[in-house]
Amino acid sequence: MRPRVLLVSSEAVPLVKTGGLADVITALALSLEEQGVEATILLPGYPAALRGASGLRKVADLSDLPGGKGELLQGYMPDTGIPVLLLDTPQFNQRSANPYVDHSGNEFDDNAVCFAALAHAAVKICAGQTRFPVPHIVHSNDWHAALIPALLKAKGLHHIGTVLTIHNLAFQGNYSAELAPELGIPSEMVSEDGMEFWGKISFMKAGIRYADRISTVSETYASEILTPRFGNGMDGVLRQRKDALVATPNGVDLQLWNPGSDTLIAKNYNNDDIRGKVVCKRDLQKRFNLPLQPFARIVALGSRMTHQKMADVVLDALPALLEAHPTMQLAVLGCGDHQYEQKFLELAANYPDRVGVRIGYDEDTAHALHAGADILLHASRFEPFGLTPIYSMLYGTIPVCSRVGGMCDTVVDAGLEGAVDRGATGILFDGESVEDVHAAVSRALELSIQPAVWKRMQTDAMMCDFSWKEPVSRYIRMYAEIAQPEAAELFRASLMPAAANATHIIERRSSENRIA
Ligand code: ADP
Ligand code: GLC
Repeated sequence: MRPRVLLVSSEAVPLVKTGGLADVITALALSLEEQGVEATILLPGYPAALRGASGLRKVADLSDLPGGKGELLQGYMPDTGIPVLLLDTPQFNQRSANPYVDHSGNEFDDNAVCFAALAHAAVKICAGQTRFPVPHIVHSNDWHAALIPALLKAKGLHHIGTVLTIHNLAFQGNYSAELAPELGIPSEMVSEDGMEFWGKISFMKAGIRYADRISTVSETYASEILTPRFGNGMDGVLRQRKDALVATPNGVDLQLWNPGSDTLIAKNYNNDDIRGKVVCKRDLQKRFNLPLQPFARIVALGSRMTHQKMADVVLDALPALLEAHPTMQLAVLGCGDHQYEQKFLELAANYPDRVGVRIGYDEDTAHALHAGADILLHASRFEPFGLTPIYSMLYGTIPVCSRVGGMCDTVVDAGLEGAVDRGATGILFDGESVEDVHAAVSRALELSIQPAVWKRMQTDAMMCDFSWKEPVSRYIRMYAEIAQPEAAELFRASLMPAAANATHIIERRSSENRIA
């Protein structure tokens, strides 16, 4: 028998993705499978997920969920064959472009009901009320799944180990306490030492209070969230559960993000021979309507356009940077707050020969961006982990990042002046001002015209080990700590060398690694 984990999330690539959470869930499931752990992903039945999953069949009619009834469908992820369960409800079925907000950027009114339904579906699986095998561990990710540990405890299902991974503490799922009965939350849990949060109910607080283990995605973020600056009001409750809080840094799916084999880039290259990057640069210039100048320095931006990502400050910093550095070109891929999207488009209109902007979500272009750019600017007010700078490093594109969260642990800083030590892979800067961004990007541009230093930084960045090997072992050890004794043995056995790469299903079709 294999140990079983149910990973519950709102996103998983390639079915649904708005950010790094989606990448992490699928890559973690794959890595668990490769290690001999049976991992199934439970996701909302968004239309894109229903379209993208293969071999869907009904495994349960769920009649009394918050918001009404639903069906639990079992199938497989495209590309990987990872088992997936989709909760198909009329509400989830109406989500189109973005799963959380409408076209005007307002949160959908029924988010609380939808994600409470997802939690109740997970509880029914754990209670053996579906035809799906009961898992040994339920691993909830972010607020969308954070009610599960509380509901399991309320139902007396103490034998199932629960983990909450916090990918982003800024999103908490806080709703009116009056909704508790409708959401199926026991009234005794709506208290200060339960899930009550400033008069509301908080899904995230529920997870923090009731999960057996709380993990977050980098060492630095794990300590930052214990402070008022980064705690988003949850630092107190997290400090109370400090003994249950662990840092488990993410890895990267190196089959998808590898310039040596990536089918989405113009020419493959690797650390020994980086010349293909020149072809990728030309391709990027074409894609963004930029002059095909081989000696231009392309600064890329590729992320959600939000306050977290300091889009406001970056927008203010860019005109002066473009004026100060005539060889700089800018390629921007992103979407998010409409006001920022609009301002990026205005910037492109003001600098038609220097700035290319693509508003929207486009996986292919994201790969082309990392492959073709020289520098990635990734400013953040906070960053739990930060996959984007890692992707850029793996593609020999030097990241310029805020010194926060995961980036403190993954980017080795070349410093803002003076000689560059061996092993530097990027630039970290402090502060949130226009001047801070200006100084950091200028420093990177100056280094980029020192061929020996730059080449060494690129090579060192490309050689970093960001595989899932260590992270997945950490998760499995954590599961073993909280599982029932028999299941704990199974988890521990999966860590033995012979268990790795056991039987399974994984059939990668990397040419299809697109969002459904
Ligand atoms: P976050 O999860 O906070 O958005 P990460 O850097 O960890 O930050 O992950 C972001 C993920 O989303 C990366 O895989 C990145 O390539 C992707 N991404 C962000 N914006 C876009 C976009 N507009 N088009 C394609 N991919 C995007
Ligand atoms: C969140 C964070 C990001 C992290 C990702 C995956 O969206 O903002 O920093 O990399 O989750 O854990």
